[in-house]
Amino acid sequence: MLKMKDILDEKDKRLRMVSEEVTFPMQKEDLKKIDLMVEYLTNSQIEEKAEKYDLRPGMGMAAIQLGIPKRYITIVEEVEDGFDTYVVVNPKIVSNSMEKIYVDQGEGCLSVNREVEGIVPRYARVTVEGYDTEGNKIRVRAREELAIAFQHEIDHLNGILFTDYIDPKNPMKDADKYRPI
Ligand code: NI
Repeated sequence: MLKMKDILDEKDKRLRMVSEEVTFPMQKEDLKKIDLMVEYLTNSQIEEKAEKYDLRPGMGMAAIQLGIPKRYITIVEEVEDGFDTYVVVNPKIVSNSMEKIYVDQGEGCLSVNREVEGIVPRYARVTVEGYDTEGNKIRVRAREELAIAFQHEIDHLNGILFTDYIDPKNPMKDADKYRPI
């Protein structure tokens, strides 16, 4: 089971690496990591378990956040009747809306252990292509919060943190250009 200490902190330089494409068949260790990532993200969004195991809540994680410079991401989104789980290997945004949005309360990241105010412009809708763990091609259409999660996690694979987008001198810059969610 993953603990918070297993997740790299923003000061760790490995988070700045550009992760490598994954080849198939995937290695057993990576498949195991994916299970652990999904387990963490799910438990962290269940209050009782988050408290019990001391997990900071998060809906997405990229392999590099565990120090693994490989291109795979996991997202667990709470929906009406449970959780939707996305595991995408070698993900790529293949199309996006013109419209941009941002998280009103500020975006969050399991590697950034502090409140960060500021606008992070994201596409309101994206189509992501990639592969499942078996190497089958998959395509996900995401909007709103889920779209932001995909953009945030894919950024991790390129060494980018959400805080990079924020102008510290004027964190709410251009707020009127984007729609808050
Ligand atoms: Ni993150």
